[in-house]
Amino acid sequence: MTSMQPAYDVIIIGSGIAGLFTAMKLDSNKSVLVVSKDELKCSNTNLAQGGVAVTFNPHDYNSHVEDTLKTGFNHNDENRLKIMVEEGGSNIEALMSMGVHFDCDADGNLLLTKEGGHSKRRIVHYKDTTGQEIIRGLLEACLEKDNISLKDHIFVTDLICEDDQVQGVKLIVNDRIESVYASKVVIATGGVGGLYEHTTNASIATADGIAIGARIGAEVADMEFVQFHPTALNKKDDAHFLISEAVRGEGGILRNEAGEAFMERYHPLKDLAPRSVVSKAIIEESNKQGNQNIYLDVTHLPEDYIKNRFPNIYIKCLSYEIDMIKDLIPIVPVQHYMMGGLKTDAIGRTNIKGLYACGEVACTGVHGANRMASNSLLEAIVFANRVAEDINVAEVIVPDLKKSFEAIDDSSCIKSHTYKQQLKHIMSEHVFIFRSKHDLIYALELIEGMNVDLSKKCNSQEAFELRNMIFVSKLIIKAAIARETSLGSHIIEGE
Ligand code: SIN
Repeated sequence: MTSMQPAYDVIIIGSGIAGLFTAMKLDSNKSVLVVSKDELKCSNTNLAQGGVAVTFNPHDYNSHVEDTLKTGFNHNDENRLKIMVEEGGSNIEALMSMGVHFDCDADGNLLLTKEGGHSKRRIVHYKDTTGQEIIRGLLEACLEKDNISLKDHIFVTDLICEDDQVQGVKLIVNDRIESVYASKVVIATGGVGGLYEHTTNASIATADGIAIGARIGAEVADMEFVQFHPTALNKKDDAHFLISEAVRGEGGILRNEAGEAFMERYHPLKDLAPRSVVSKAIIEESNKQGNQNIYLDVTHLPEDYIKNRFPNIYIKCLSYEIDMIKDLIPIVPVQHYMMGGLKTDAIGRTNIKGLYACGEVACTGVHGANRMASNSLLEAIVFANRVAEDINVAEVIVPDLKKSFEAIDDSSCIKSHTYKQQLKHIMSEHVFIFRSKHDLIYALELIEGMNVDLSKKCNSQEAFELRNMIFVSKLIIKAAIARETSLGSHIIEGE
């Protein structure tokens, strides 16, 4: 039976943009373990379509900051936001130097698109599969480096922590739990989409990072701010494929069943209003006439342009017999992103010594109460770089190796899959776009009432995930109960 090397300098949990960019930015003399609980390319980054918002010209920094503040309902940490905007350009250049491509014109200038909340074109992209291209480039670059070990299908059950200093991780290898030590651990596990029935997130997004961090005392922040993307494909049998906001950025128009472009009645920015505003408007518009369908219309755009700019979305829609060149695309808001998460400082440190977080799992505060489109990948690279810089100069602590193996106990039988479905249903029914205190308290009671005996030893990855999902759902609900008025993506019914 193979087991893991007992210790590394740095362990990174998650192989999306934040995890892989951190690995690449660490000095080559550091031994680095990157683990993914699924295939290495299975991440929210890999599904990202729109692009990365970035401002190269210092004269434009202010407008990027201002747009993000407006979209985030001024709940943002302005200092961190400035850092993100000012350091964006150099990190995009670093990403490109690692082999990642973005669309360029014939002269080699980056092509820029626009999305909701942005007052100008500032989003670099690779057709409508930007995330896939980023992961391809970063994985290839990591594989070239001798100091980085990439391991797939390894699930981290818990962090090892003593005296508020992280010591390593416990992970499932070959059906047993092993301890692997490192004095620096970076959580980059992505989001919480798995808490909902309908999400644009990858299947790995079961809130693990927030749970394992918070269980050892890492602080969380802004947990009530869950983002719902306005335009997922509305086909009931599908996992709600994302129709990128870039489609509206390039001229797509939302229409109701009567064909009316209704967004002008809801916000001056119309179809490119902040996501929380558009999602709310779609639900209200649909409810007004008894659950009528809402559509995205690009039929006025040139056929060649649609096929070249959005090839992935075009083909996906065709597979549902929707030809977006002549048909309206039925859409619906679904869970998309988590603004809250493990609270970090400006260099990605949590309050636990040696424990860092970056990417969607972290709450740096840059997004405020509603993230602006394509700022997530930007945040991920800027703060991943800062994490790596901090680790590169940190004192080297040799971990105290106390190698242990625990067999996974098969005797307990937590019906994890069924409980997961129940939990997703509760979150989707009661902790969705419109919330009420009464409903939130009811959701909490329902979760408590599920009677999942988590004191029994978990007997599978699915059971460990369920434990994490329950833990984080409660954090979200409790934070939502505590915020009594609407702000950004946290919308109290009737306000
Ligand atoms: C999209 O392409 O609409 C998603 C991009 C993002 O979440 O920033």
